[in-house]
Amino acid sequence: MMVGMGAVCTTLIAGVEAVRKGLAKPIGSLTQMGTIRLGKRTDANSPLMRDFLPLAKLDDLVFTGWDIFGGNLYDAAKTAEVLDKETLEKIRPYLESIEPMPAAFDQHYVKRLTGTRIKSGKNKRDLAEQLRKDIQEFKKKTDRQVVIWTGSTEIFLSPTAVHQTLAAFEKGMENDDPGIAPSQLYAWAALTEGIPFINGAPNLTVDIPAMNELSRKMNAPICGRDFKTGQTLIKSVLAPAFKARMLGVSGWFSTNILGNRDGEVLDDPSSFKTKEESKLGLLDLILQPELYPDLYKNIFHKVRINYYPPRGDSKEGWDNIDIFGWLGYPMQLKVDFLCRDSILAAPLALDLCLFMDLAARTPSLKGLGIQEWLSFYFKAPDSAPGVYPEHDLFIQSMKMKNTLRHIMGEDLITHLGLDYYGG
Ligand SMILES: NC(=O)c1ccc[n+]([C@@H]2O[C@H](COP(=O)([O-])OP(=O)(O)OC[C@H]3O[C@@H](n4cnc5c(N)ncnc54)[C@H](O)[C@@H]3O)[C@@H](O)[C@H]2O)c1
Repeated sequence: MMVGMGAVCTTLIAGVEAVRKGLAKPIGSLTQMGTIRLGKRTDANSPLMRDFLPLAKLDDLVFTGWDIFGGNLYDAAKTAEVLDKETLEKIRPYLESIEPMPAAFDQHYVKRLTGTRIKSGKNKRDLAEQLRKDIQEFKKKTDRQVVIWTGSTEIFLSPTAVHQTLAAFEKGMENDDPGIAPSQLYAWAALTEGIPFINGAPNLTVDIPAMNELSRKMNAPICGRDFKTGQTLIKSVLAPAFKARMLGVSGWFSTNILGNRDGEVLDDPSSFKTKEESKLGLLDLILQPELYPDLYKNIFHKVRINYYPPRGDSKEGWDNIDIFGWLGYPMQLKVDFLCRDSILAAPLALDLCLFMDLAARTPSLKGLGIQEWLSFYFKAPDSAPGVYPEHDLFIQSMKMKNTLRHIMGEDLITHLGLDYYGG
């Protein structure tokens, strides 16, 4: 169940259908193309993840969702201008068969959008109950469900008293508390129905004690926020490399041009602030200036996103990185990533749906609330209170694979490897 059926959502659904029809390969998806090593390197045993794990099969996936705009997904995919006409025509009847349900929306939280198909209700609680009904209807037609937010970035919100406990949150919905954004109504509805909730945007949504409480109470997993797709993915690869070699960083300037609807929404300063916070957090957490003051204490880190319609979904992200080495001598690195936003995001959304469904069926994971092992996919990973989140892509990857081994009762891999040498 996808909240927000725009570029990422239609690229995911069209892509799954294209793969099912044998028209293309699911590139970028670990669940479909990744392998996992089991046992020792000499065992030569690296099955595909989808053969090793009891994941839902692509053929069994059924999609539905909500949006503030009407029309079917063929039209939505055409508007998004991610996939070419030829691909879309081949799967047109399937895409035409899916239409979003009316949304819970309030323009206060996404200033640049004016909705046309919106639920009305006497208060936020009423809207959330309507979303629960939508979920209950979908439950009648399907075995298991996952809700994923692929909706727009909402305005920046900081946690307040209403977010601290489930009781305060539920009262807040009745009182139309301004601290409760529409994304949180979907999250509350999903978790209350015992369904995992994934947040692809940087919104606060489930990163509050009240949602953590609800998630644990209902055995309905939650995870981090904001898909780690383009510039931040590269950042979480390069920064660990500098740290691993004890190279200093004095400045990191990241700028983007982007012309899709997401770019238009982010052109509003209050939505951009939400994104900016999510993109800025990781450098300090990876580089740990408190441990390495000589190397990372004075980093100047700046992130910019510029709405530039001619580029559509084809984002260009530049990074200028000022680093220094032996005896403090300065060097520079420039990265120019000409990427495609939704092409990078769609496989992440797919993997997260399949992995969160698996987590909800795993006795040792489902009652934990936050699924930290899925940090791999997020710009702002979530972690237990008092534990700093892990941003280094390679640590995240190891953690995820070890969790998958744990789920299946396999030995964890420590990479110690002394036994190959008689140790
Ligand atoms: N690489 C990426 O594409 C990427 C990476 C990280 C995060 N994201 C985030 O994913 C989200 C989706 O990106 P996109 O490019 O698909 O954007 P999009 O604008 O194409 O689609 C978002 C959709 O959400 C809908 N929407 C907004 N509020 C809603 C509500 N309350 N209920 C239901 N629908 C609602 C909008 O009408 C729109 O159709 C954005 O928040 C974006 O920041 C994208």
